[in-house]
Amino acid sequence: MGGRSWMYTKALVDGFAEHAQLVGICDRNAGRLKLAADRIAAAGGGDVPAYPAEQFEQMVARTKPDVVVITTGPDVTHADYACRAMELGCDVISEKPMTVSADLCRRILAARQRTGRSLRVTFNYRYSPPRSQVKRLLDAGAIGEVLSVDFTWMLDTRHGADYFRRWHRRRENSGSLLVHKATHHFDLVNWWLGDRPADVFARGRRAFYTPRTADALGLKRRGERCHGCPEAAACPFYLDLAASAGLRTLYLDCEQYDGYFRDRCVFAEEIDIWDHMALNVRYRRGALLNYMLTAHSPWEGYRIAFNGTTGRLEHQACENTYINGDGSVPGELEKGKVSITLIEQFSRPRQIEVEVGAGGHGGGDPVLLADLLHPAPPADPLNRRADHRDGTYSIMIGIAAAASIDSGEVVAIDDLLGDAPV
Ligand SMILES: NC(=O)c1ccc[n+]([C@@H]2O[C@H](COP(=O)([O-])OP(=O)(O)OC[C@H]3O[C@@H](n4cnc5c(N)ncnc54)[C@H](O)[C@@H]3O)[C@@H](O)[C@H]2O)c1
Repeated sequence: MGGRSWMYTKALVDGFAEHAQLVGICDRNAGRLKLAADRIAAAGGGDVPAYPAEQFEQMVARTKPDVVVITTGPDVTHADYACRAMELGCDVISEKPMTVSADLCRRILAARQRTGRSLRVTFNYRYSPPRSQVKRLLDAGAIGEVLSVDFTWMLDTRHGADYFRRWHRRRENSGSLLVHKATHHFDLVNWWLGDRPADVFARGRRAFYTPRTADALGLKRRGERCHGCPEAAACPFYLDLAASAGLRTLYLDCEQYDGYFRDRCVFAEEIDIWDHMALNVRYRRGALLNYMLTAHSPWEGYRIAFNGTTGRLEHQACENTYINGDGSVPGELEKGKVSITLIEQFSRPRQIEVEVGAGGHGGGDPVLLADLLHPAPPADPLNRRADHRDGTYSIMIGIAAAASIDSGEVVAIDDLLGDAPV
């Protein structure tokens, strides 16, 4: 019942109420559970039974859901709920990343095979019109066979910094940004290429969100968190939870129940994730991916280029920046700042007219919801519906990359998966 959950909750009680029924909600934080129940009632969803985390089994037994939607954070909590839900006879819709480690991934895959249930991972980026457009062009052979991909993703100092404030900043919770965030990006490449990754070599550093940067900014008296920090007025990374109704009610007012601070100092010593990461991936059919993720950029968005046997496809997008949970639309694409350029061999570059949709994550969120919650979803010619395999291969690149940063070696994904039933 945190920041992300409302997209599903609202859709269930509002837009899709005639097709799907919200039968119960569950969270470990009593404050957020009550807040969600109140919001659901206000949205016309009535009195939905609310269960604390330790009563998950009772909730499933009493309310008999067909599907359990997992939107918990830290990401490390997804696996346990996914396995328990499938063992209890439910299908699962999981937020990304499916999980954060090879061990937990193998556990999910085994539970899925044992129970025969389905597990979908909600890769909303696939559903946004320009990314679907790129898929259509590649599938139609616009540049022949793709031999290599060059992909740079920039998180800015507003949205990117936000991952250094809370649970994401510890690898044990999120697997690092290589898993938590890059699962979206690796999923896109896996899907665009229609291929699976074979092995990964990576390097990563944390050199921006550090005590040294804070000292250089003159922020000497910084506290554990923004709320009440003596450096609040001077710090460009100060987040005022009290100033936003969304952040205040969802987080500040609920701290009393579990001590979860949403606004920890982005320069803290305890952070153990990287803030810039570079890696190479070799795909099974041979294509090479060069990928870079930066979490301290002055602008938010990405650039990608596909080099094919008959040409090159370039795609660039500038995304709006946001703080998750503050009520703003997350990751909307900025009109006029999205481009797709097709350069066929021996020809001049051609601008392709870009389709841009409204709504969160490049217009992907509303299309995803229709696909998830409508009993007769539209046909899926682009294969956008992501299952446990897609969930697996998108995280395994990041998990292998993290292992490669630790060891300095190339890491083969099959070595991490072993004989897991993908
Ligand atoms: N697809 C997207 O674009 C997108 C965007 C944002 C977030 N997400 C994903 O959604 C998930 C939640 O992110 P968020 O920003 O809403 O986080 P959040 O911290 O705002 O909310 C997480 C919620 O989970 C609850 N929780 C924590 N541990 C629990 C447990 N063991 N049992 C029950 N409840 C528990 C917390 O109390 C909180 O209410 C993450 O996995 C994140 O990756 C996806």
